[in-house]
Amino acid sequence: RAEDGSALWLRYATNGQSEVIVQRQSPTINIAASELRKAWLMPVPVALEIRSDKEHRALGNEGYTIRTTIGAKQVTVTSSGDQGLLYGAYHLLQLQATGQLEGTKLDRLDISEKPDYKIRILNHWDNLDGTIERGYAGHSLWNWDELPAVISPRYEAYARANASIGINATVLNNVNASPEILSANYLQKVKALADIFRPYGVKVYLSINFASPMALGGLPTADPLNKEVAAWWKQKVKEIYSVIPDFGGFLVKANSEGQPGPCDYGRTHAEGANLLADVLKPYQGIVMWRAFVYSPSDSDRAKQAYLEFEPLDGKFRENVIVQIKNGPVDFQPREPFSPLFGAMKKTAVMPELQITQEYLGFSNHVAFLAPMWKECLDSDTYAQGEGSTVARVTDGSLYGHSLAAIAGVSNIGNDVNWCGHPLAQANWYAFGRLAWKHDLSAEQIGEEWLRLTFLPVADARTVGIEPAEDREQLNWLLTLLNAEILQKSREAVVDYMMPLGLHHLFAWNHHYGPEPWCDIEGARADWMPAYYHRADPNGIGFDRSSTGSNATAQYHSPLCEQYDGLDTCPEKLLLWFHHVPWTHSMKSGRTLWDELCYTYDRGVQTTRQFQKIWDRAETFIDRQRFEDVQHRLRIQSRDAVWWRDACLLYFQQFSKQAIPHELERPVHN
Ligand code: GCU
Repeated sequence: RAEDGSALWLRYATNGQSEVIVQRQSPTINIAASELRKAWLMPVPVALEIRSDKEHRALGNEGYTIRTTIGAKQVTVTSSGDQGLLYGAYHLLQLQATGQLEGTKLDRLDISEKPDYKIRILNHWDNLDGTIERGYAGHSLWNWDELPAVISPRYEAYARANASIGINATVLNNVNASPEILSANYLQKVKALADIFRPYGVKVYLSINFASPMALGGLPTADPLNKEVAAWWKQKVKEIYSVIPDFGGFLVKANSEGQPGPCDYGRTHAEGANLLADVLKPYQGIVMWRAFVYSPSDSDRAKQAYLEFEPLDGKFRENVIVQIKNGPVDFQPREPFSPLFGAMKKTAVMPELQITQEYLGFSNHVAFLAPMWKECLDSDTYAQGEGSTVARVTDGSLYGHSLAAIAGVSNIGNDVNWCGHPLAQANWYAFGRLAWKHDLSAEQIGEEWLRLTFLPVADARTVGIEPAEDREQLNWLLTLLNAEILQKSREAVVDYMMPLGLHHLFAWNHHYGPEPWCDIEGARADWMPAYYHRADPNGIGFDRSSTGSNATAQYHSPLCEQYDGLDTCPEKLLLWFHHVPWTHSMKSGRTLWDELCYTYDRGVQTTRQFQKIWDRAETFIDRQRFEDVQHRLRIQSRDAVWWRDACLLYFQQFSKQAIPHELERPVHN
């Protein structure tokens, strides 16, 4: 059976003709009904019911209940809004597809759901010329040249996939934004996409270039306090809403990596954000203002966003939300959470996660990211005492913010299988699921995704007649793939790329392979790996403790003290916070050097284990996807050796110690 992976996790049968009872029609309800009519295979009808009683008002228009009613003769999906019915319909189909309605389970459904984040948004770093910044799955899905005249069927497929996992918003273009996106011509193209996404509940937002009033409007300045600048934005926003009445708002990268911004005019980030917030407010639009700022200065890069934004707390308008990358540097395989989470109490803040694997092996390496995102979301900031997790800081519950959002930088391109690596689809899925419910476990998400993606499509004719034995074996295999590949994959990448808190050892210009020795004359110090690893004859690591840059002081007590102490700092973050002697004794009893060798080597061995485990899937999974993953695992394993050998041989010049004899010799040794 040929299978290209284009169906994602939505591999429902399409030949059902089930009974679906609806009270009324709307574009969104019609989609819900049509999905169920096609794919619902159970012997009872489904009713979609709008009800505004107390229970459903509390769940909001995206929340829903699913219950077995009328003496187990009907399943009823109820919501106070159309969108909730659509989400409920997908939930029901997912339960069916993963075998969770079998036996008597169907008779006892009692589910109640409500999203944790109000805005669950993808950020596409797509350029108007079709390229994607840090994209590894082909070109942009948006064919700007053909829009609005030509509408690819993939636009709707994209909206459907998002709706099926609760993603309700999208930023179409790169944060390094071309002013052109706000031209009248492009707004028509954006409108065409917004019209397709609307019935699926996916709202459109745009990244803007802060200097647009100059580039598009011909003004001599983009100073946020200039009246003409404000008038230009006001007019532009009016124009946008006349074309897209439910437009979501702007995402802004300002005064970061060369982008223009309010600081160019001696103004603050708050003054820049508020200018836009004020003109968007009458339309209920919002501003997502990014805190990803750093400059080549004496100050530790990991401290800079905090230093710049924390003093602005309380200065932002209500419809501004500050978007903060999960870690203080830049989407490294492992970082501590950004200390800005919890530090800004009066300002709504949102996490920015990276789904595309810029620093995790692109679309060649398997790296299931739910464990990494959970690590961040579940981190306790202690901002209001114990239990002040990043999740609670950002879902609005800790400080009572009504604006609550979470962003994921998309890994989607126009590759037939959407994400390049067949297993990378799991990260798009996981982002949606965690944005909906941040306390889901990575294990559950992995298990769900594997079942939806690899269980054979049941259709009305074959349901129930597959040999039970095969099914049992397949279920066993999927559990194995989850436990032994997905769940271990991110940690394996950390092990073979940069364990124990090391970071940014990447080749300067591609972020794929290792280049810890890279030292380009005249280049920015904070773009050079040596800035981060600081290896020397005494040891390795960045001293961010009180004897060094004192970045540890940006964390709340007791984390601040914990990170600050060489003996109390978690070893997985040791070299992030400390410069540690090569002979330092680790918890395992090994020296730091030996531990580094063991950890790098463990990463390599784990990728080989992935290959062996995946090979067991051969008879269960279609050839195309089986071989695609098999080949990529081969690349990953080869790359892991490259990483280990490059890093160990380079650091060995400083440690002057041998690689423990029981470990594999580096190829170049
Ligand atoms: C990283 C990435 C850039 C991106 C930037 C950002 O530095 O390499 O391509 O533009 O993050 O998030 O703004």
